[in-house]
Amino acid sequence: MPVERAAVIGAGTMGAEIAQVIAEQGIPVKLKDVSQEFLERGMRHVEAILRRRVERGRLTDEEAAAQLARIEPTLGYEDLADVDFVIEAVPERLALKQAVFGDLNRACKPEAILATNTSSLSVGALAAASGRPSHVVGFHFFNPASVMKLIEVVVTPETSEETTGATIAFGRQIGKLPVRVEECPGFLVNRILFAGMAEGMRYQHENRASVASVDAAMRNKAGVPMGPFQLADLVGLDVTDEIGKILETAYGDRFSTPPTLGELVAQGKLGQKSGEGYYRKDGTTIELGSNEADGDLLVQQVMGACFLEALRCLDEGVATANDIDLAMQAGAGWPVGPIAWAEQIGLSRLSAMLGALAVKVGPRFTPPARFKALADSGGALR
Ligand code: CAA
Repeated sequence: MPVERAAVIGAGTMGAEIAQVIAEQGIPVKLKDVSQEFLERGMRHVEAILRRRVERGRLTDEEAAAQLARIEPTLGYEDLADVDFVIEAVPERLALKQAVFGDLNRACKPEAILATNTSSLSVGALAAASGRPSHVVGFHFFNPASVMKLIEVVVTPETSEETTGATIAFGRQIGKLPVRVEECPGFLVNRILFAGMAEGMRYQHENRASVASVDAAMRNKAGVPMGPFQLADLVGLDVTDEIGKILETAYGDRFSTPPTLGELVAQGKLGQKSGEGYYRKDGTTIELGSNEADGDLLVQQVMGACFLEALRCLDEGVATANDIDLAMQAGAGWPVGPIAWAEQIGLSRLSAMLGALAVKVGPRFTPPARFKALADSGGALR
C-alpha cells in the first residue's frame, strides 16, 4: 500500500529537505519541531530550494506553491495519529532520539513505520526504545538530500521483512533509489566514503600538499564530483569529525584524520553551513601545504582505501556487490562504484598495486589473503 500521509521529525536542513522531497511527489507531510522558530527556519529552507528551481525554470510558481502547501508545520505529536511513515531527523544524540521514538510509539498508529535518518547512531538502539522494533528501520539520506538519489534502508535483526519491503517501496514512491543495507557502524556508504576521505586528508598532511590540489586531483583523475575537503565542507566539519570518530572507534586507525579537522571544529569553522571550513566563501582554501599533489599516487591511495572498505562490507554481508556500486554512484555521485573500479583495473593488477602501496605507504594497504587468492586464481567479485 502506498504511503498516503508522512511526517518528518526535526526541521533542520536535513529534515526540511526530506519534507520537500516527499511533498514533491504529491504526498502530504507533517514537519514537526519543538519551536515555532525552528519550524519557520525549516520552511524558509524549503522555500529557498523551490525558489532556486523556479529561477532555473525547473518548476512553475504554481507547482512550487503546491509543494509548499503539502508541508504542514506542527509542534504537537497529537497531529501524527494518522500518518503511515515517519522519518526522525533530530540532532544526533542517542538519548534525544530514543525519547522521540518513545513519543512516536505513543502518538502513531500501530502499523505506522518509524524510520530514522541517523548517520552514526545504532538503529537497533532506537528500535529498542520504540516499543515496536519490527516497525523500525534506518532511512538514510545523503547531502544534499534534495538532490542525491540514494536512501540507505538500514535493516536491524528486529526489522520485519514487511517493514523492509514497505520502506523500499516508499523510497521509490518519493523518487529515490533505496538500497538495502544490513546494520553495522557507519552503514555502507559512509564507511566507504569516509575511508577515502580520511586517506585523502592523511595524504595531504603527510605530503604537505595543497588542499586545492588534492581536491582537484580527485575530481580530475578519479572523476568523483568532490575531493575530500570539499566533501567535508559540504557534510559539515562537525558531522564529519563525529562520524569519523565513531568509525575509528568501531574499525580502528584507518579512519583517523589529521588534527586540522578537530581544530577547525573547535574554532567554529564548520564548512558550508558556517561560511568557512577548508574553503572560504571566496573559493580560496586555508593553507595546510603548498606542494602539488601527485594525482596518480593520491588516487591509488584514496580509491584503494575505498575498495578495501567495500571488500570488507562485501565479506561481512552488509550489501551485495551490485548494491555497493549503485549506492556509491547514487549517494556520492561517483562515475563507477568501487567494485566496478576494481574490475576495470583487473583484480590481479589491483592486488599487485595494493601490495606495492603496502610497501610504499603503509601496511593498511596489504591486500587481504582471500582477495589475493581470488585475484591470483582469476576469480571474480560477483
Ligand atoms: N545544498 C543544497 N543543494 C545543493 C547544494 C547544497 N550544498 N549544492 C548543490 N545543490 C543543488 C543545486 O541547487 C542543484 O539543484 P537543482 O538541480 O534543483 O537546481 C543541484 O544541486 C546540482 O547543482 P549544480 O548544478 O551546482 O551541480 P554540481 O554538478 O556542482 O553538483 C553536487 C553538486 C550534486 C552536490 C555534486 O557536487 C555531488 O554529487 N557531490 C557529492 C556529494 C556527496 O558525496 N554527498 C554525500 C555526502 S555523505 C553524506 O551526506 C552522508 C552523511 O551521513 C553525512
